[in-house]
Amino acid sequence: MKAVIPAAGLGTRFLPATKAQPKEMLPVFNKPTIQYVVEEAVSSGIDDILIITGKGKRSIEDHFDRSFELEYFLRNSGKTNSLLEIEAISDMADIYYVRQKQQKGLGDAISCAKKHIDGDPFAVLLGDTITQSNIPCTKQLLETFYKYESSTIAIEMVPDERIERYGIIKGTEISNSVYKIEDMVEKPTLKEAPSNLAITGRYILVPEIFDHIESIPPGVGGEIQLTDAMRLMNEMYGYVLEGKVYDIGNTVEWLKSSIEIALKDESVKYELKQYLKELLKD
Ligand code: G1P
Repeated sequence: MKAVIPAAGLGTRFLPATKAQPKEMLPVFNKPTIQYVVEEAVSSGIDDILIITGKGKRSIEDHFDRSFELEYFLRNSGKTNSLLEIEAISDMADIYYVRQKQQKGLGDAISCAKKHIDGDPFAVLLGDTITQSNIPCTKQLLETFYKYESSTIAIEMVPDERIERYGIIKGTEISNSVYKIEDMVEKPTLKEAPSNLAITGRYILVPEIFDHIESIPPGVGGEIQLTDAMRLMNEMYGYVLEGKVYDIGNTVEWLKSSIEIALKDESVKYELKQYLKELLKD
């Protein structure tokens, strides 16, 4: 199985931080967002990863490349732990890149992967969404995909006020946490939404999706929407992930993810807890 990570968006929800750097490179605690995403794919057993990039995204390629000067410096100054950490980033997986030439939406970005995918099922992990769970989220999805032998996407129950930010599914629960999808709609109003089950940025898709992407007109925001193409799929399932999902493009969620992840790190946990306690007293 290969993974596709779309990382071509302009990050307009996070300006000015994303004016001159990709949102996928914004750090969450001590690592860039996209490193968490690649690590999730790798820990789910996937080591062939295609990142869909675009203009201004060069630092993503640099991050996963070797950095000889830095390695030389760390080796000579005896910073062995940092050296091992830096080397591990470039050895993690086989990472390939293709550019989306125009900002035409998530569906269009996925269609840039058609050649690389070459007719097999594949995983999609949105480059601005990170997850925290005991079993890696993509691995959880893969288990459901192999069980039902059909495209499976991650879903999550969201409160009414967040509905307009997501693709929303209509479906019937057929077993614990698994829904058979009957329809879906991209960024509906609360009134239009068929449920509170939102699509959360992890997908296992069969290659039939590429034909549907080619056949659909632009949808919400004038963009080719992946959700509109998925509506046309023969059979699809939704799986409620066990774990937490953070959409980094949203500033509050980005902050929350940094704090929650830092609170799990032994080296800063104590100091941060004290600080938060003090802060909340006022
Ligand atoms: C995209 C998808 C949407 C999904 C969301 C999850 O929207 O189009 O269906 O619910 O990701 O984060 P975006 O956040 O790119 O606007």
